[in-house]
Amino acid sequence: MAEKQYLLGRPDDARGGRLYIGRYMALDGSAGAPVFLDVLRPHAVVVCGKRGYGKSYTMGVLAEEFARLPLAVRRNFTVIVIDTMGIFGQMSESTEQCDLARWGLSAGGIRIKTFAPVPFLERSQPGTAPFLVPTGSLSPYDYCELLGIDPLSGHGAALIGAIVRLGTFEIGQLSDAIASSDAPPEVRSSLCGLLSMVSSWELFSRDGSFAGLLEPGTINVIDLSGYGHDPGIRSCAVASLARALYDVRVRARRDEADGGRGVPLIWMMIDEAHMFAGGSAGQALINEWLRQGRQPGLSLVLATQRPSALGYDVLSQADVLISHRLTLRDDIEALERARPIYVKEPIKEAMARLGTTKGAAIVLDDATESYHIVRIRPRTSAHGGGEPEVYGVDSG
Ligand SMILES: Nc1ncnc2c1ncn2[C@@H]1O[C@H](COP(=O)(O)OP(=O)(O)O)[C@@H](O)[C@H]1O
Ligand SMILES: [Mg+2]
Repeated sequence: MAEKQYLLGRPDDARGGRLYIGRYMALDGSAGAPVFLDVLRPHAVVVCGKRGYGKSYTMGVLAEEFARLPLAVRRNFTVIVIDTMGIFGQMSESTEQCDLARWGLSAGGIRIKTFAPVPFLERSQPGTAPFLVPTGSLSPYDYCELLGIDPLSGHGAALIGAIVRLGTFEIGQLSDAIASSDAPPEVRSSLCGLLSMVSSWELFSRDGSFAGLLEPGTINVIDLSGYGHDPGIRSCAVASLARALYDVRVRARRDEADGGRGVPLIWMMIDEAHMFAGGSAGQALINEWLRQGRQPGLSLVLATQRPSALGYDVLSQADVLISHRLTLRDDIEALERARPIYVKEPIKEAMARLGTTKGAAIVLDDATESYHIVRIRPRTSAHGGGEPEVYGVDSG
C-alpha cells in the first residue's frame, strides 16, 4: 500500500505541483507521513515562532523545494526572497547536515540569483546584481513618508510639486529642481539635505527595473541587510517592489486570457516581516498581496517572531499558518484570536505538544480545514541563520 501523505493548501491529493515541507511529528518526536504544500494555487503563508526555532530555516526549505520542482512546473514561477539578515545567499552552498537520507533527501546547494543595493555589492558574493528601485515606482506620498515629511506641510508641497513637474528623474535632478524652485530658502535647503542623504543610499535610479526578478523558474535573493540601521529604507524598497510586482501580474493576467505566460507567477518570501507591518509596505502587502493577490497569481510567505505585530488582518488572511514554538502571551493570543473554527483546541495547548524541538511546528491549513503537528524537513542547502559560536570555552 502507498504511504499515507498529507497535502496542504489543496483539497485533493494529486501528486504534481507541491513542496515537500516535512513529516508528521508523533508525540515521541518520531517522524511519520510526509507533508506537502500545494503550489498550483496562490497562497498566503505566515511562518511564525520564537527566535531560533526555525522560521528562516523553514523559508529556506520552501525556496529549496521550488528549486527542486521539475522545470516544466518551476518555470511557471519566480521566487523572490527579501533577505533582511543577509542569510539566504548561502543557499547556493551545500549543507553539512548528515541525516538527510532518512528524509529521502541528499545534500546540495541550489541555484539562486542574488541582488544587493549598490553600496553593498562589493561585499556580496560574486555575480550579485545591483538592486535598484525605479524612482518612478514611488508615489509623491511615498517620498514624503520616506523623508518623514507631512505631505500637507510647506516641505511636502515643495517636494510633491517638484516630483509631479519632473515625472521621471534621478534623485539629484529632483534635488536640483527643488533648489531652483520658488519654495522658501529653509524649505529648499532642508529638502536638498534630505535628498542628498537619499542619493547616498544609491538605491533609487530613474532607470531601475525589477525585470531581473521575473525570469521564469528562478530563485532570487535580495539582500537588504546592509541598510541595517534604517528600517525606513527597506520598507520603502519593499513597498515599491510589492506594488510594482502587483501591477506587473495584474497586467499579465489580462494577457494570459489569450493563453501563454509572459510573466511568471510570483512567490515573495519576506523574513522578519514585522519590520514591514506599518507604512506603505504594510499597506501594499495587505491590500494588494493578501486581499487581492490570488487573482493575479501572487503568493506571499511572511516569517516573523512577532505574529502579534503583523496584526489580525494578516493572520486571518493567511490560508496556511506555520507556527514554530512561541512563548510570549501576546503572540499566542494573537494566533488564538485568528484561530479558525476547525482548530478545536486552544493554540496554547497545541503549542505545548510541540515542545522545544527546533523545526517542529503547528500547521493550520484552510484548504483542508485541518491542522497538524509537523517536523519541518532538514535543509539540503546551507542555512546562514545559525547563531555564532563562542570559541575558547572548555566544554569538558
Ligand atoms: N527543521 C529543522 N530541522 C533541523 N534544525 C532546524 C530546523 N529548523 C531550525 N533548525 C535549527 O534551528 C536554528 C535556528 O533556526 P532559524 O530558522 O535560523 O531561526 P529563526 O526562527 O530565528 O529564524 C537553525 O540554525 C538550525 O540549527
Ligand atoms: Mg530568522
